[in-house]
Amino acid sequence: MPAAVLHVTGARPNFPKAAPVLAALDRLGVDQLLVHTGQHYDKNMSDVFFTELGIPEPDVNLGIGSGSHAAQTAAIMVALEELFLKVQPSMVLVYGDVNSTVAAALVAAKLGIPMAHVEAGLRSFDLTMPEEINRMVTDRLCDLLFATSPDAIAHLGNEGTDPSKIFLVGNPMIDTLLANQHRFDAEAVADRLGLVGTFAVATLHRPGNVDDPGVVNELVNAMSAVADLAPVVIPLHPRGRAALQKAGLLDHPGITGIDPLGYIDFLSLVRGAVAVITDSGGVQEETTILGVPCLTLRPNTERPITITDGTNQLVTPADLPARFAEVLAQGRPETWPTPPLWDGHAGERIARIVAAHIHRES
Ligand code: UD1
Ligand code: UDP
Repeated sequence: MPAAVLHVTGARPNFPKAAPVLAALDRLGVDQLLVHTGQHYDKNMSDVFFTELGIPEPDVNLGIGSGSHAAQTAAIMVALEELFLKVQPSMVLVYGDVNSTVAAALVAAKLGIPMAHVEAGLRSFDLTMPEEINRMVTDRLCDLLFATSPDAIAHLGNEGTDPSKIFLVGNPMIDTLLANQHRFDAEAVADRLGLVGTFAVATLHRPGNVDDPGVVNELVNAMSAVADLAPVVIPLHPRGRAALQKAGLLDHPGITGIDPLGYIDFLSLVRGAVAVITDSGGVQEETTILGVPCLTLRPNTERPITITDGTNQLVTPADLPARFAEVLAQGRPETWPTPPLWDGHAGERIARIVAAHIHRES
């Protein structure tokens, strides 16, 4: 009997990715341990996902909390090293591109523990993004690389990765969306927020957008011009909340700033929106499946498949109002392409490969 498979999660986008993998491994009877690093800790950045998505209570919460990149990553590493030495997992699974991901990868690699990366191979080629550094380092160290899109496989190949480590499995975040979409009730959430008729949803949290006051001012002007055309609801991520408010984001009567929403409420609202304006990675993917036009306020994306096979387009703050007006005039697409294997079964594919790997090694 192999030792437990250990999952490391910590930040909001990790949870909808891990949920279907945990469930699928459970169905295969694999022994598992779930670790939460505590990188995110507010109720609506963390707990709400466990409750709503039926994710089991973490076996261990390291309670690391916030800090500079080095302080946060190092604290997670110290705590994980102690834990891994104690429980000797048969494999460590890491998700996405947050500091908890790279911290776990560095520790597992140095202890010689086999490791798998869920959402491997995504590249923005923009090293000013902390996530790009986390993605590159994590992929380099992993034994199994689970890719969500063919372009990710090409990037890993170009970096010289052994092809036998790479698997196109689909997108576990989309498994979670498809499994829960019957619970999305746009009208109920819109009613609760006092929204009548057409509205847009926005999220902003990338350091490149919210850390520099000059960029924040430019964004606030662009968002105000959008709100001249349709009301905008923005669940405010804790990063950037203060800066956006200080720059006057909420002074426009058409902009409603609210706390981060739980998963079901957020995607309910997205499904009812005429368009989404975002810099989130996951939201580019979710809008692609829901068929909601997505205007991504970034100069690049590590998820180009959401442009070629989805509803996404990149916009600058200067272009945003005009692009939003176009989307408003066009309405929702009636048909649109979707990426291969984003079919609700990624978790099962990942679980089968992980189970085969640990049984072979034990
Ligand atoms: C992190 C990820 C980013 C991801 C985002 C998802 C890294 C480097 N970045 O960014 O890739 O897109 O999560 O949401 O890992 N805070 C709270 N409450 C919380 C969590 C954070 O108030 O529950 C505040 C703290 O002031 C903290 C700041 O938000 O300093 C930033 O949190 P952090 O986890 O460092 O990075 P994010 O910007 O959330
Ligand atoms: N999300 C949520 N409530 C919100 C905003 C986002 O539940 O108020 C969900 C969203 O549907 C997606 C995930 O959080 O599943 C994306 O996380 P985030 O944008 O923080 O991170 P990124 O994907 O950019 O790393």
